[in-house]
Amino acid sequence: MTRIVVIGSINMDLVTLAPRFVAPGETLIGERFLTVPGGKGANQAVAAARLGAKVAMVGAVGDDAFGTQLYDGLVAEGIDVAHVSRMDGIGSGTASITVAGGENQIVVVPAANARVMPAHVEAASRAIEQADVVLVQMEIPLASVEATLRIGKRAGVPVILNPAPAQHLPLEWLSQVRYLTPNQHELATVLNADPSSDFRDLMRRAPCPVVLTRGEEGAWYREDGEPVHQTGFKVDAVDSTGAGDTFNAALAVYLSQGLPTAVRMACATAAIAVSRLGAQGGMPRADEVERFLERHA
Ligand code: RIB
Repeated sequence: MTRIVVIGSINMDLVTLAPRFVAPGETLIGERFLTVPGGKGANQAVAAARLGAKVAMVGAVGDDAFGTQLYDGLVAEGIDVAHVSRMDGIGSGTASITVAGGENQIVVVPAANARVMPAHVEAASRAIEQADVVLVQMEIPLASVEATLRIGKRAGVPVILNPAPAQHLPLEWLSQVRYLTPNQHELATVLNADPSSDFRDLMRRAPCPVVLTRGEEGAWYREDGEPVHQTGFKVDAVDSTGAGDTFNAALAVYLSQGLPTAVRMACATAAIAVSRLGAQGGMPRADEVERFLERHA
């Protein structure tokens, strides 16, 4: 069983389904409202657990009712929460999400996630040392992302950095990353490059291997040579929230089968997630991915 440690955010997603996105100053009548567990870190942890990995999460929730729900939700998915802290005097992270026409707009308030410090990552050193793969994103303080890269490097454990939400990063950090998994916009931001640059040029400029997601067009990956394309799987898009998180989790789970297979599995797993509502609501189990691939062979 693949052992994965996820360091990252835990949010409650406040999701409104709307006929279209609202314009500034406009009020629109929505169709439905849901509160569902989310956060890039928690989403990746849940997706990896559903695919059969043994997962430990490092993160934080607040001392509010959302915190209890989010913590219990991770436990119910079989995730090791020994390194999930319950912070006093602060609420849990939230994401206000509008879903319209299969796309989304998201505003995140980090709250307790902003208190995930390098010391929390250090406290999880043992779990990281015993992991096959570590996943980290950027909805927690960057100092904690850096601590994850440092500890992963020290332990010789591959770290997948999903640079979302996008921020520029010191290039020396990237040399400690096994795979960087941005979309085009995120890669340009990380490299401080012109966002209209050709994404293949950006991939060649990155000082680490890159797996770049392209939505329904699939993904591109590059280790040493030229970027290679993995075609996407066509599905009827219902909600793209968490698709990138599902992709990253699957990449980590299937990495032992080699990068080309892992990227193909990640594209298939993310496509299934997009065809369903909610970030974690749409994440499939391993047997569903296998059946999906049989249908799309
Ligand atoms: O990647 C999707 C996630 O981003 C949502 O679940 C939301 O919580 C935001 O963190």
